[in-house]
Amino acid sequence: MSERLFIFDTTLRDGEQVPGCQLNTVEKIQVAKQLEALGVDVIEAGFPVSSPGDFNSVIEISKAVTWPTICALTRAVEKDIDVAAEALKFAKHKRIHTGIGTSDSHIKYKFNSTREEIIERAVAAVKYARRYVDDVEFYAEDAGRTENEYLARVIEAVIKAGATVVNIPDTTGYCLPEEYGAKIKYLVDHVDGIDKAVISTHCHNDLGMATANTIAGVLNGARQVEVTINGIGERAGNTALEEVAMILRCHKSIDIDTNINTPKIYPTSRMVSSLMNMPVQPNKAIVGRNAFAHSSGIHQDGVLKNVQTYEIINPKDVGIDDNAIVLTARSGRAALKHRLHALGVEMTQEKLDKVYEDFLKLADKKKDITDDDILVLAGADRNVNHHIKLEYLQVTSGVGVRSVASLGLNISGEHFEAAATGNGPVDAAIKAVKQIIRRQMTLKEFTIQAISKGSDDVGKVHMQVEYDGQMYYGFGANTDIIAASVEAYIDCINKFRK
Ligand code: KIV
Ligand code: ZN
Repeated sequence: MSERLFIFDTTLRDGEQVPGCQLNTVEKIQVAKQLEALGVDVIEAGFPVSSPGDFNSVIEISKAVTWPTICALTRAVEKDIDVAAEALKFAKHKRIHTGIGTSDSHIKYKFNSTREEIIERAVAAVKYARRYVDDVEFYAEDAGRTENEYLARVIEAVIKAGATVVNIPDTTGYCLPEEYGAKIKYLVDHVDGIDKAVISTHCHNDLGMATANTIAGVLNGARQVEVTINGIGERAGNTALEEVAMILRCHKSIDIDTNINTPKIYPTSRMVSSLMNMPVQPNKAIVGRNAFAHSSGIHQDGVLKNVQTYEIINPKDVGIDDNAIVLTARSGRAALKHRLHALGVEMTQEKLDKVYEDFLKLADKKKDITDDDILVLAGADRNVNHHIKLEYLQVTSGVGVRSVASLGLNISGEHFEAAATGNGPVDAAIKAVKQIIRRQMTLKEFTIQAISKGSDDVGKVHMQVEYDGQMYYGFGANTDIIAASVEAYIDCINKFRK
């Protein structure tokens, strides 16, 4: 029997810190339930003191989920710990995750403090958290750049104070795999009482080494890994859950395994990508669109003779089923419901009827309905409460002529119209919107997600608009890419605070 590695999923905390990826509480519950079905051991549900939204999400996730431990993040501050304990009150299994920066630069510039004082604060926070819960995890922020000898002193002190898990984050993604592995080994060899706590990895991907560092940590004694779905997270992201789970499944010689129900990996990846409006890069390991696509002649020939020639993972083992029922205009509600269920989406009969109606309209326009399309349709009502809605859009464009757009907006029940010319159809349409919404806003980023399955595919647009010193993120999806762009722009405007 393999040794067990605990999976600590932080998609809903570190992952959700990505600008533009914020989820509402209902969406977070949906992801948390999917993570439970996936088999994660711990769900980091939020940082309760940071906002009422995070506080509420931790409460609701605690109520909705049964098996995984629910974890709440805090700083080494009593108020944070009080609020986290309150937010966790409904959790069946609960953990407080508290900590402080331990690298010299954090001690000097962030805290204007000393090494000794940081140890005192760390110990006090752990003791304080233990007054509320039996399971306390301590993080030594920027442990990756913390001198090993001092780090060992911090870790020894917090274990004595009652920490049950000690997290060694490579916060800046700086470490080399050998260096990170050696750091974990140093702690195993030099910390008195290390056997009383589980060592956890928490690696960021700034230099593309998050997964390699995590595995190095595991090979040297870590028995919990902190990961996110699709590797999302601050800057270049965190270690990807799916990569660690599949590395351990593929490399049986490591003889350490997780509780991950691997066929749920792909549906979970699609759900998180869709809800967070965060596309997965096509060549992303395990869950990217091309992860199992053999295109060169030599590879295709080999795979046709025997899949083992070029495939180390059976796509079905991670939930990618090429033989899944194809959804077309002739598919019934039951087939749609079945596919939604496979993607981890449950809905009332009333909502299913509405999604089915939209599905039929889309199926009339394009022949292959992808999982992404289904997820976009399932989330289409995210905009129902928007006070600005696109009523119609007409665009003429071509080569050698300026584009012209005319459109109608419904703003809180009132109808407005405008027309404008531009360098291209999107430029013209956005200028028309700006004629109606007279605010000083600047389009900062405009991404059209690759249309992969033919010219009739649904185009997805992500936009970033700056207004009044704040950044707002919007999303639009439509078979008409100009309409998707205008929808994304209007989605941003609907989020303006004033
Ligand atoms: O990267 C990091 O150091 C963190 C801690 C708050 C755990 O996310
Ligand atoms: Zn982090």
